[in-house]
Amino acid sequence: MPDAPISDSNTPLSPDEQADIIPNLATREELNEWERDNILRARQWALADRQLARLNPASEDYVRELHWRMFDQTWKWAGIYRKTEKNLGVPVHQIHEKLAQLLGNAAYWLDKKTYEVDECAVRFHHELVVIHAFPNGNGRHARLIADVVAVKDGHRFFSWGSKDVIAPGEAKEAYLRALRAADHGHFELLLRFARS
Ligand SMILES: Nc1ncnc2c1ncn2[C@@H]1O[C@H](COP(=O)(O)OP(=O)(O)OP(=O)(O)O)[C@@H](O)[C@H]1O
Ligand SMILES: [Mg+2]
Repeated sequence: MPDAPISDSNTPLSPDEQADIIPNLATREELNEWERDNILRARQWALADRQLARLNPASEDYVRELHWRMFDQTWKWAGIYRKTEKNLGVPVHQIHEKLAQLLGNAAYWLDKKTYEVDECAVRFHHELVVIHAFPNGNGRHARLIADVVAVKDGHRFFSWGSKDVIAPGEAKEAYLRALRAADHGHFELLLRFARS
């Protein structure tokens, strides 16, 4: 009998991944479910009125705390900046400086209303994934920060294409195309995608 096709969900986790995982999990499917649960709790925390009223998403403490809350039960590096180079993101030694610049800009845009709130949120999101401060989870973290920015200002959270943009597929392709346009300073596609 031929082997069952290897799908992402039953792929065993690599030794490197295993070393950094807090719970005892064997497969990608278990990890995905565990992460989803962790992130859901962080999302409830972040979008609760109390946090929205008292916390400033355009601050380093917030950016790190949110990542930590999203992955604290899952990964040992939750809330800790990346220490190795990736094919995405700025060089490791620039993470602090680029993030500080972005947070200064984001705080200014929000305060001075340089752009509509949606555009502030989407620009903030885009720069966060460009910097890629964490070893993983940068996309989910940056999308949640954009949601926080929108909801804090009385808007609805983003739909991000209304489909799964984590798994490979059409929605993810559309999301990545919109990010590439944003790399060239064109935010219309990403703004539309985020509300589609
Ligand atoms: N060429 C690319 N391929 C994949 N991701 C990209 C690319 N360019 C930018 N990105 C951004 O980086 C994110 C992936 O980074 P990372 O794996 O750290 O985050 P994640 O939350 O684990 O990913 P995902 O959003 O896919 O669940 C994407 O969500 C997207 O925002
Ligand atoms: Mg990832």
